[in-house]
Amino acid sequence: MNDTMNFKLYLNGAITKPQNSDVFDQCKKINEENSTANGGTLIARTHIEKANYLLVVIKPMMVEEKRKSVVVGYLCLRHYDDGLYISQLAVSKDHQRQGIADRMIEYVEDHLVIEENLYLHVNHGNDNAHALFQKHNFVPMNVKYKKVYK
Ligand SMILES: CC(C)(COP(=O)(O)OP(=O)(O)OC[C@H]1O[C@@H](n2cnc3c(N)ncnc32)[C@H](O)[C@@H]1OP(=O)(O)O)[C@@H](O)C(=O)NCCC(=O)NCCS
Repeated sequence: MNDTMNFKLYLNGAITKPQNSDVFDQCKKINEENSTANGGTLIARTHIEKANYLLVVIKPMMVEEKRKSVVVGYLCLRHYDDGLYISQLAVSKDHQRQGIADRMIEYVEDHLVIEENLYLHVNHGNDNAHALFQKHNFVPMNVKYKKVYK
């Protein structure tokens, strides 16, 4: 990951404040460009509104001849009774394979108090995400079966 990138952690719904709507739109764009890879789940505003934390990775870039802070990756977290749940995680296609997801997971483990579990769901076939979480010592817990009729 490039040294010019920075982390910003939004707490408890701060992301939904009007002044942060551009950050939400940029996360949404990253989610949409990855929707095939992650099984087609589009970002829902409720994921962000209900998130206890939103971590974004920001890179300064020239956009239309102006220097702009661009979101290149994000991770949403929510507290549940059984632990802290990663409800979304994605990196913009142009910035994948640069260690950004690695650094987001490390950031969460270094900066947040995880009292019990850190957990998430990964779709079957999303090999990149399976490899990522196994690299960080996450262990698969159960398998969901589905029969599709139409
Ligand atoms: C999965 C995802 C978040 C990885 O982000 P990334 O910043 O490119 O990942 P990193 O560069 O930090 O790679 C970390 C590890 O992830 C795994 N990985 C990521 N991309 C991979 C790829 N294309 N092929 C194989 N392994 C991959 C590897 O284990 C890698 O470690 P390594 O570099 O030591 O081999 C990214 O591919 C993405 O946004 N996918 C679409 C959204 C999604 O599926 N989110 C997860 C839903 S649970």
